[in-house]
Amino acid sequence: MDIPLTRIFGVVTFYSQFTLIPRGKHAIKVCSGTACHVKGADDVKRKLRDELEIKEGETTPDYQFTLETVACIGTCFLAPVMMVDERYFGKLTADKTSDIVREYSNKKLGSG
Ligand code: FES
Repeated sequence: MDIPLTRIFGVVTFYSQFTLIPRGKHAIKVCSGTACHVKGADDVKRKLRDELEIKEGETTPDYQFTLETVACIGTCFLAPVMMVDERYFGKLTADKTSDIVREYSNKKLGSG
């Protein structure tokens, strides 16, 4: 492309959408905004950490999931909420969270 590496590096490190660390096929974003926090987001986060065996900001060793915590997603009425890729999941419980993760895990590489 005839673009200096330093320029590419500058762009990649400036925008949060880019990363130098490989990410999982599925991005799980758990809301930690006020409404979600009050409605039990900590239980959802705990369940995700247990199911995926990773912490926020990490990716599973098989590169299937990356777990992130984000501020308000904008669907507070569904609190607690998480997104998996572009899908919203609301009124979560620990059990429901577990079912969603297993559903995506069983799809193997998101074929559906
Ligand atoms: S606080 Fe979680 S969606 Fe708004």
